[in-house]
Amino acid sequence: NEAYIMKKATICIDKNFEVSDIDKRIYGSFIEHLGRAVYEGIYQPDSPLADESGFRKDVLKLIQQLNVPIVRYPGGNFVSGYHWEDGVGEKQKRPEKLDLAWEVIETNQFGLNEFMDWAKKANTSAMMAVNLGTRGIEDAKNIIEYCNIKGGSYYSDLRKSHGYQDPHNIKLWCLGNEMDGPWQMGHKTAAEYGRTAAEAGRLMKMVDPTIELVACGSSSLMMDTFGTWEDTVLSECYDQVDYLSLHQYYGNQENNTPEFLANTVAMDKFITSVISICDAVKAKQRKKKSIHLSFDEWNVWYHSNDQKIERWCKAPHQLEDIYNFEDALLVAGMMITLLRHADRVKVACLAQLVNVIAPIMTSDTGAWKQTIYYPFELISNYGRGTVLQTVVQSPVYESKQGDAPYLDAVCIRNKEKEELVIFAVNKDLEDSMELTCDLRQFEGYQIKEHLTLTNPDLKAVNTQENPDTVSLSTGTGAKIENGVLHALLCDKSFHMIRLGK
Ligand code: AHR
Repeated sequence: NEAYIMKKATICIDKNFEVSDIDKRIYGSFIEHLGRAVYEGIYQPDSPLADESGFRKDVLKLIQQLNVPIVRYPGGNFVSGYHWEDGVGEKQKRPEKLDLAWEVIETNQFGLNEFMDWAKKANTSAMMAVNLGTRGIEDAKNIIEYCNIKGGSYYSDLRKSHGYQDPHNIKLWCLGNEMDGPWQMGHKTAAEYGRTAAEAGRLMKMVDPTIELVACGSSSLMMDTFGTWEDTVLSECYDQVDYLSLHQYYGNQENNTPEFLANTVAMDKFITSVISICDAVKAKQRKKKSIHLSFDEWNVWYHSNDQKIERWCKAPHQLEDIYNFEDALLVAGMMITLLRHADRVKVACLAQLVNVIAPIMTSDTGAWKQTIYYPFELISNYGRGTVLQTVVQSPVYESKQGDAPYLDAVCIRNKEKEELVIFAVNKDLEDSMELTCDLRQFEGYQIKEHLTLTNPDLKAVNTQENPDTVSLSTGTGAKIENGVLHALLCDKSFHMIRLGK
């Protein structure tokens, strides 16, 4: 009989070694005109669950609890064929149009102004995308004038005539969406897009110099053009933009959970590669300014891949992934990965927020939390402050991505609250792991809270009837002895250990 030896991992931190303060916009999300995200998701005027503006109150409450500081809108692929003017002004006069991106009818009953009203109620702000697919720099300029100029010009007065006296003052703008993708309306080569982004950005900043701009990076690390796309685009528009976007979705199509969870390694490589390219262009062009990253679409997405919809219907059930427990573990790992790069990743958006590949689902009778809601909620609410360099010493396993550590972890210091928060995922599917962390620099700190997300069934899901199958529970057994934290992380589990005085 071989003696059983428990896996051990250590987290090493030093209060003087910081990665960066966290930009709260790293906890952003995304609402696209797609499926039931807008209609029946956040907006359902004929529902008894809606408020006087038609916004679902039950959904607003769940979003407020997620503490999402920014929401990207109105797409996604949708934006590349969108005329924002169709969605403003009198509702009876708004046209119904074909949306070629998702092969549905867009009624335009919800548009830019409704979104801004909704954002206020959701305690969030807008990250707006302009159409650089079927439209161009003229329209990009006009929408900034409509949104951000006080009055006294055609588009700003048009906004006023629509009942919005004060400008919306939207500060963060995406220059199109996934323009490298052949599926995108108005798809462009890197050189074509780079020039368009530069000119659109120049005009947009002429209208309002206080805005920040995100240029499209690759639609995923797997794109054939990855690398050259980033290099060429940034070479054209470095001066005009502030961020470069990254998009990535992962799936467990092969039902291989260790490989699926090892995708945090792939995500980490993606981020470090994009940083290298940004810095190479910076060096070549001898710039002072660094380009930061906007990871403005990330999530698990594959469960709904085979869903078919009838063409040209309205608000169908589209991309409605039902998330299971292992998806929640990867979502936690992806958030940890983003935070470990908080010095460069300033914006990130969980794609998406309601019904469409989302943490929140709705029916006509209520709303409920999917499994992935829980890690997002905890990390977004308690992952505020400064990321400390978190050196993780963990056993590893072999994966297609190379060595994957069993432990994903990050440590955050909240100086205001005098708290230290550890987020950790034990990816081991069979064994618990003994975690230690030397806390002698944090004298007097005690364990304030230990919450965990775990389930014996990797495929367990939450439904409207059984909404709590996968939910948080209190962790047990963590202790501090002689200034060292000891915790037992059970197999396949996510943890938040919150320490303070
Ligand atoms: O989030 C769903 C879709 O994924 C978005 O519309 C697009 O940008 C990406 O391909």
